[in-house]
Amino acid sequence: MEMLEKMKMRRSIRKYRKVPVEREKLEMIMEAGIYAPNPGGRQGTKVIMLEDAELIEKIGIVNAACENRNWGGRGVSPEQPSIIDDLSIRSGFYGCQALGIVCVERERAATVNCIGGAFTVAENMVLEAYDLGVSSCIVGRAEATFKQEGMQALLDEWGLDPAYMPLVFVCLGYIDGNYPKLKPRHEGRTIYIGRK
Ligand SMILES: Cc1cc2nc3c(=O)[nH]c(=O)nc-3n(C[C@H](O)[C@H](O)[C@H](O)COP(=O)(O)O)c2cc1C
Repeated sequence: MEMLEKMKMRRSIRKYRKVPVEREKLEMIMEAGIYAPNPGGRQGTKVIMLEDAELIEKIGIVNAACENRNWGGRGVSPEQPSIIDDLSIRSGFYGCQALGIVCVERERAATVNCIGGAFTVAENMVLEAYDLGVSSCIVGRAEATFKQEGMQALLDEWGLDPAYMPLVFVCLGYIDGNYPKLKPRHEGRTIYIGRK
């Protein structure tokens, strides 16, 4: 499949089988992440890969609790319901079996470039995952999640430099069920200004 085709076919998956993702695949996904474009050429992100499904579930419950799930924005995905669509889902990580945690420099965390730099990493990771047959979902609320009681201790335990903080999650695993179809795009989202 061509790259453009893969980009179009990739979907956010929120139902995972309890099957671990092979370490070799996770290493390739991590590598894809750290080769992403990065603001100022700083390579200012660090990526943690968590493979402990039990711990992922625990953190996922904290993550889901950081969302206002009654804001009325239902309809994220009928085939792969999000925590907003289905209030019975306990974990914001949907039972995924590996979790990428993209961390940024604390001091710069609020800048557009820094946030953008974290999401380019996440995007490279989900595309590489798709190429390897691994399903994924980008999930937010990382900052809020690690502000909850007892959560900073995990980062310390993992040896994350305190100058860094988590900004975005990448759920990874093997899909449970059928892969959803390509999602049609809204009209009028592209504008060309031709040559004179
Ligand atoms: C910045 C960003 C934050 C996202 N946060 C979440 C999230 O917290 N929870 C979730 O289930 N999906 C999250 N998603 C996935 C989107 O819901 C998903 O990409 C969107 O609905 C389009 O669906 P698709 O990826 O299947 O094309 C996020 C995506 C992006 C780019």
